[in-house]
Amino acid sequence: MSNILVTGGAGYIGSHAVKLFLERGHHVWVYDSLVYGHRAAVPADRLIVGDLNEPHRIDQVLLEKRIDACVHFAAFTYVGESVTNPAKYYQNNLVNTLNLMECLRKQKVARFIFSSTAATYGMPETMPITEATPQVPINPYGASKLAVERALADYAHAYQWGFAALRYFNASGAHPDGTIGEDHTPETHLIPLIILAAMGKRPQIEIFGTDYPTPDGTCVRDYIHVCDLAEAHLLALEKLQPGQQMHYNLGIGRGYSVREVIAAVEAVTGKKVPIKEGPRRAGDPPVLVASSDKIQKELGWKPRYSDIKAIVETAWNWHKAHPKGYKDK
Ligand code: UFG
Repeated sequence: MSNILVTGGAGYIGSHAVKLFLERGHHVWVYDSLVYGHRAAVPADRLIVGDLNEPHRIDQVLLEKRIDACVHFAAFTYVGESVTNPAKYYQNNLVNTLNLMECLRKQKVARFIFSSTAATYGMPETMPITEATPQVPINPYGASKLAVERALADYAHAYQWGFAALRYFNASGAHPDGTIGEDHTPETHLIPLIILAAMGKRPQIEIFGTDYPTPDGTCVRDYIHVCDLAEAHLLALEKLQPGQQMHYNLGIGRGYSVREVIAAVEAVTGKKVPIKEGPRRAGDPPVLVASSDKIQKELGWKPRYSDIKAIVETAWNWHKAHPKGYKDK
């Protein structure tokens, strides 16, 4: 049993991890600025509202709560915004993470799980993407995450930190019990946008590019259920040894095209989704599919959700139960 500090624990992926950690008997403290996170996504008695640019507050929490591991989700994640406002991304995702790491180092907390991303790979030429695929990010978001990975490797070497950098592909779905789910403002992610179009809350879904070199001309992505992601964090945390460096891709190893995802939403909801075919979105690689063999072999992780319809079903249940997202609460 650990006393875990979960930064960004009121966010989409963080809140699913917090729920799992609590179910498995860990002591969890969520540290979240609530800039993007939702108060209603975590138990009130676990939440500490704070920013990562306040090292003295972090010090205080680490000491008071006797924290012995940190799972760091807090970050800004809008790829497009990172291109137009890189300062915001380097400041929060890199500088603030270094602040946090320094607080942890001073308090001798040496177990760290880091939310990294497929965006650290940029536009790889070969699929599937393994952990050995060169990391060449093409936007400041991916670059900020890769910079932290590099800093962590140095901390592991110099200070005997055990860390896991988990490189997520497309996080999706919602908790099967319908209590927590995906609620971003603004929403930019494909599955919630299609569901909102199916519900008539948006006029249509725009397909960003229909001329890609893929079977149906639309982009292919590896959609991984958010609860499977959460499980990977716990496994990594439980197995980490001092000085150990873990790098793992997290996907299901199968890609779905934008059109296939739209078809899945139509099948699950029984509703026709209005479509507009638009131009490509800058910076979108045609195909991103993970090989997650390494975490499967080394940690015994296995995704429970491997079918897009099953993933969409959980997202649909969340949206039906919370038509205004967390504003319902
Ligand atoms: N798409 C559309 N229309 C939309 C929204 C998305 O066609 O309205 C397409 C995109 O072009 C892309 C796919 O649907 O091909 C998925 O797009 P998302 O925006 O849902 O996800 P991304 O693959 O762009 O990004 C995700 C995470 C990022 C992370 C990235 C890593 O959201 O945080 O994966 O590759 F950096």
